[in-house]
Amino acid sequence: MKIEIFCLILFFSNSFCEFRFHPRKTKEEIETQRNGLDPLGITLDDFSEIWIKRSQDYINDRLNYQNNNGKAKNVIFFLGDGLSLTTTAATRMYLGGEEVELSYERFPHLGFVKTYCVDRQVADSACTANAFLHGVKNNYQSLGLTANVSRTACTFTDEDITYSIAKWAQDAGKATGVVTTTRITHATPAGAYAHSPHRSWENNAAISSTCRNDPNSRVTDIAHQLVYNEEAQKFKVILGCGRREFLNTTERDEENGAGRRTDGRNLINEWLEERNKVGNAQYVWHKQQLDEVDVQSTDYLLGLFENDHCMYRNDIRDRNLLRQEPLLTDMTRIALQMLQKDENGFFLLVEAGRIDHAHHSNRAPQSMDETAEFARAIELARSLTSSEDTLIVVSSDHSHVFTYAGYPVRRNDINHIAGRGSDRRPYETLSYSNGPSATNSFDSDGYRRDISNDIFGTSRRAHQSLVPLSSETHAGEDVAVYADGPWAQLFQGSYEQSVIPLAMAYSAHIGPYADSSPINPGKEEK
Ligand SMILES: *[C@@H]1O[C@H](CO)[C@@H](O)[C@H](O)[C@H]1NC(C)=O
Ligand SMILES: *[C@@H]1O[C@H](CO)[C@@H](O)[C@H](O)[C@H]1NC(C)=O
Ligand SMILES: [Zn+2]
Repeated sequence: MKIEIFCLILFFSNSFCEFRFHPRKTKEEIETQRNGLDPLGITLDDFSEIWIKRSQDYINDRLNYQNNNGKAKNVIFFLGDGLSLTTTAATRMYLGGEEVELSYERFPHLGFVKTYCVDRQVADSACTANAFLHGVKNNYQSLGLTANVSRTACTFTDEDITYSIAKWAQDAGKATGVVTTTRITHATPAGAYAHSPHRSWENNAAISSTCRNDPNSRVTDIAHQLVYNEEAQKFKVILGCGRREFLNTTERDEENGAGRRTDGRNLINEWLEERNKVGNAQYVWHKQQLDEVDVQSTDYLLGLFENDHCMYRNDIRDRNLLRQEPLLTDMTRIALQMLQKDENGFFLLVEAGRIDHAHHSNRAPQSMDETAEFARAIELARSLTSSEDTLIVVSSDHSHVFTYAGYPVRRNDINHIAGRGSDRRPYETLSYSNGPSATNSFDSDGYRRDISNDIFGTSRRAHQSLVPLSSETHAGEDVAVYADGPWAQLFQGSYEQSVIPLAMAYSAHIGPYADSSPINPGKEEK
């Protein structure tokens, strides 16, 4: 206690305190850190007044905030795949400084969700999608089915099927849509429309041979389900990537990428035929076409912009492909235009799916870049809608083994060195407890590799990790939920991930809370 008061007095000559509470830094380390230091970062905000003032502004904002108990006409759910709290914190630095607020951090209500699945402590993106879209936790790698169905099963009963909030919205007469930066048949978007024991059954050839050879199999591939499932047929807008799942191996897509199917089908053409039976359908595969879509006359829009996943934003920029490849923000804008035509309101799922993929490769800079784009898409969606009638909920499916560590000085380059280990070698502020970089993180003598002369900050740089794995893993701690709009206050607290769609449904009077639903507890209208 005494020493803390002493430190406070010695605030401006705090080398003693630093020695007392933090590991001593070498001159060289301090020099390294100061090189990345923005001199503005250590000026005024070290004095007390500005902190008190900022806090008072914050509290005044809270005092003036009124909960919105109205009915949500529209609901937008933004899912940052693998968006851990560490990822959000690191992205603040990536965007300019420790005090930066990402768009969703300004939302008035915040909670934490537990992400475990029925059979796994640490979840994948399929079972979590079932929790945050269907309200039912299920098995690792399963979609749209209860935990009664194993991920290798080929049959299931009607009672085993669960339905997503997209269907709840459709049943209430609302328009629906899905946007993602992954293959549209990947776990998170498929969570909105597919029922598949295993998430990897994205095309007919990917289904397990057991099920392919089982005459009683009830399994169909996820791309097929996007064309023929009842809930998928109603999507007004579907934007993402992964054309390969829709085409035969003998077929090439518009950019000469090969298909993966072996049943001879062209499901993109089938989608067009099916949707054109009931409205005006359009398929686009590059950004210019997307920009030129006549939103008013188009009833159904499908955009598939890559053969596999969409490109990382930094690759699109570095390769000068902004005219060809839409960013998440571009897709979100068109999706909102398509859905806002509906007088009954809409439900839209938007996924930034590659925050996760970059983490799996230990590429922290790329992950932060994807997160920055995610934040921009949310900001855009908020600016194009009103918080009076549109609930926006932002969350993640699971965390990653990604840490933000050491005692770097203020404004230290987030992609750079934080300090030295007791092995006398430098370590980065951002690192991982496992992943592919581990094989390059140690010398043959078992010591950590000396990274002093590495080039930091490039988008593809893999940060150091400990346990070698071909793909870095998810992590099991809670993720945050940020909410703004009608009934955003429901998202406060610490709760199960499966609460999320129920709370969204409550705000919009859909699904289990539809005005016509027998279990609707009878909400008070504003
Ligand atoms: C669980 O699965 C079994 C085997 O398919 C099926 O007979 C049973 O009806 C299912 N139970 C429920 C509650 O869905
Ligand atoms: C589709 O691909 C399979 C296997 O690669 C091939 O045998 C078949 O002939 C193809 N079908 C068509 C219609 O091209
Ligand atoms: Zn993942």
